[in-house]
Amino acid sequence: MRLNHYLFALLFLTLAACKQKPAFSGYSIQKSIVADSAIVSTAHPLASEVGLQVLKDGGNAIDAAVAVQLALAVVYPVAGNIGGGGFLVYRSGDGQDVAALDFREKAPAKAHRDMYLDAEGNVIEGKSIEGHLAAGVPGSVEGCWQMYQKYSQLKDWKRLVQPAIDLAEKGFRITESEANGLNEYKRGFIKNNTKACVFVKKDTSEIWKTGELLVQTELAETLKRIRDQGRDGFYRGKTADLVAAEMQRGGGWITAQDMTDYHAVWRKPMLGKYRGYDLISMPPPSSGGIALFQLLGMVEHHSFAKSGFHSPAHIHLFTEAERRVYADRAKHLGDADFYSVPVASLVDSQYIQQRFANFDPNKATPSSGIEGGEFTGKESKQTTHYSIVDAEGNAVAITTTLNAGYGALTVVGGAGFLLNNEMDDFSAKPGVPNLYGAIGGDANAIVPGKRPLSSMTPTIVTKDGKLFMVVGTPGGTTIITSVFQVITNVIDFDMDMTAATHAKRFHSQWLPDELYLEKGATNEATRKKLQSMGHKVVEWSGIGQVESILVRKDGKLEGAADIRAKDDAVMGY
Ligand code: DON
Repeated sequence: MRLNHYLFALLFLTLAACKQKPAFSGYSIQKSIVADSAIVSTAHPLASEVGLQVLKDGGNAIDAAVAVQLALAVVYPVAGNIGGGGFLVYRSGDGQDVAALDFREKAPAKAHRDMYLDAEGNVIEGKSIEGHLAAGVPGSVEGCWQMYQKYSQLKDWKRLVQPAIDLAEKGFRITESEANGLNEYKRGFIKNNTKACVFVKKDTSEIWKTGELLVQTELAETLKRIRDQGRDGFYRGKTADLVAAEMQRGGGWITAQDMTDYHAVWRKPMLGKYRGYDLISMPPPSSGGIALFQLLGMVEHHSFAKSGFHSPAHIHLFTEAERRVYADRAKHLGDADFYSVPVASLVDSQYIQQRFANFDPNKATPSSGIEGGEFTGKESKQTTHYSIVDAEGNAVAITTTLNAGYGALTVVGGAGFLLNNEMDDFSAKPGVPNLYGAIGGDANAIVPGKRPLSSMTPTIVTKDGKLFMVVGTPGGTTIITSVFQVITNVIDFDMDMTAATHAKRFHSQWLPDELYLEKGATNEATRKKLQSMGHKVVEWSGIGQVESILVRKDGKLEGAADIRAKDDAVMGY
């Protein structure tokens, strides 16, 4: 199954990191920290360091985020990016300002609904996943530019871009996980590039080794154009022309005009409640905020904590909620700029109760018996997340992605950056699963300029008007359920941030009708009990890669970086 196949590839980096060879000893990596003032938690120690230095130099959380995003594009090419997109959820320290920025990729003007189908109307395997046609118009640079314009405290764009330029130009030592990732994807890089690509050695039989220097000269030049010209250094002029030329060579459809036309959008964040806590999360084109609030709404009236963490009752309750929520996701969710998404109806508490009314505490409901809810009347494989809190309490949750690991495996010749394969997040054909096994229909059909539906769920939680938690993760459709579990781990199971982040997880998504248990998440008796209730239990080796921050009762900050990926590092002061 494609979902499993993808997760296998995704987990490769993590698992490979656990093999015999000693880790590259050059980076010190902390998985948990308690700090007085500020925390940065990202997927790479060099990116966390860049962000921390910005904060120490007087920048705020947004300044740090811009520098982190660009640094990740250099040191974490598997998911960090300027050729992809993402979402920001922001809350100012005084709580007066909450914001959501959508810098998700857009379908190019030439795109159309059936672009991945053959003459018989069948989805052409791989066409939306590898190579030029898989890419949407990238949004990350515009995202950085917009958040900088609105919230920067340093007001020194060049200062924020420079660390990424230095890392690209002088090079940096790659970790064991990165070396393994680059080696693993060598075939794909060779197949999908029209020019020699920096991620493949000149002698293609040579492999990457831990601690080797990776220099990205062309990427450094692109970053310099961004440093000197701001967003126009990417969306106009040389970089846009290089993208268009790459597309012509490789048969892709993004034009220089598509680049110029790209715009990020400030959206009204989703605001929700759970057991007296307030939540701020991402609205469409992410399904994250809606799905998270539906899940929390469904379990809120059940006292699952008393049955025990990862007890059959806990896992069963969550799985049954997930089944219903993902059915709604498949039917109703897409880019609300193009499709009328019934946002308010979906998160309406009465609807949520009614949707969960047939929950049976003793028995799994077959997914075949569940469909997306009905409403009467109309309504008026790789990603990365970073969480930052600065000394003023400003909080940033950003999830950003190329989609799969190294995106479309296609580098823009002469510009040195990887293109996303976000087009696969659209529904190529109703009912045909994407990379994450998610299906969709009209709501998420391809339309020029439309943004593909996402699961990314950058989320901020507050309590009594004060910052409480910042959380998010990669993981495709497992993003929503991972964020759901981390939040309930803290609120219901009273875990600290580190325990809540590192705890084993499970996932279910309506279709396929399976319950995925992370290895070690339960004992044999619990697995058997779940099976006897009717769940098709499947073991998975890793779910999510959460970076999180909690404000403790004593006012200190606790930050956590996931242990599932070796390089994730949290820093603070
Ligand atoms: O936007 C989405 O939902 C996906 N493109 C995210 C991909 C992802 O998380 C892959 N990472 N593990």
